[in-house]
Amino acid sequence: MLIRKPNDIPSSEITSQSAYLNRRNFISGAAAAGAMALGADRVGQLVDPTSKVYAGTKLETVTSPLSTTGETLTTLKDITSYNNFYEFGSDKGDPARYAGKLQTRPWTVSVEGLVKNKKTFDIDMLLKLVPLEERVYRLRCVEAWSMVIPWVGYSLSEFIKRCEPLGSAKYVQFLSLADPKQMPYMKTVSLNWPYSEGLRMDEAMHPLTLLTFGLYGEALPNQDGAPVRLIVPWKYGFKSAKSIVKIRFVAEQPHTAWNDMAPREYGFYSNVNPDVDHPRWTQRNERRIGEAFYKQRRATLMFNGYGDQVAQLYTGMDLKKNF
Ligand code: MTE
Repeated sequence: MLIRKPNDIPSSEITSQSAYLNRRNFISGAAAAGAMALGADRVGQLVDPTSKVYAGTKLETVTSPLSTTGETLTTLKDITSYNNFYEFGSDKGDPARYAGKLQTRPWTVSVEGLVKNKKTFDIDMLLKLVPLEERVYRLRCVEAWSMVIPWVGYSLSEFIKRCEPLGSAKYVQFLSLADPKQMPYMKTVSLNWPYSEGLRMDEAMHPLTLLTFGLYGEALPNQDGAPVRLIVPWKYGFKSAKSIVKIRFVAEQPHTAWNDMAPREYGFYSNVNPDVDHPRWTQRNERRIGEAFYKQRRATLMFNGYGDQVAQLYTGMDLKKNF
């Protein structure tokens, strides 16, 4: 990965966790009051099904038992100003600087390959396919930094079920938008575009794998992968493709952007694994973005702390070979 010494971003002018939680309490309280006034059967009508959603639009969510709990949330300011999105530059501040003009409506996601339902989904349909959940997950980057983020989305499995994959579909490939007119750094960053990532079918169907539309209760900011991205919490962040336009069901392991670029450094599985060092640095620990300098460093957990839920997917596999 195009690694730079991460400069710490000051965490002043932030939406604090308590302000966010207070605002959420207010929103859910107001929604509940509105629902009672309207009668339960009309709750669905609180959201206009034809309304368009842009970065920052509030999203109705329910909390999820699949959330990680107990860790301080990374601030919105840090989540939106310290990014990897190489189509918009290789500096951590570039995506916030250059992704603002990305057109996220109209937007479609097409489903291709080994499925019964080859279909193109309008993003606003996709967004309303099933109720959105708020799920707090850790994001651990291969560059040894991490964040804790209240994502908004639903299990990718809900979407996959509706696509009706054929028995021969063993992997799912995710392709991001590749539009040099809107993405100024595609010409200078030498990744194999479009950005491509993939999961084995059982990984894609795991309930933790989140088709993600928002964070902090609002539609995704462009630099975080608007209008739709993937979050796979037990894998390094680069498995989580942003601004997805195509989902392909395939029989063979698909090629992936980082594996094409440096196969010795970035494997297909990319499970967070403190026992497998990156060839150029240790993966034993990580720096929690936004925390005070003296407590930033912490031990990296196997599967990013999600081992109880996902370790069984890899029974019998040598995770040093299949890194
Ligand atoms: N998706 C696309 N299309 N382009 C990218 O450069 N970077 C990946 C991943 N998804 C990337 C991408 C990497 S390296 C990481 S660590 C995460 O997005 C970063 O997500 P974040 O900026 O929201 O923290």
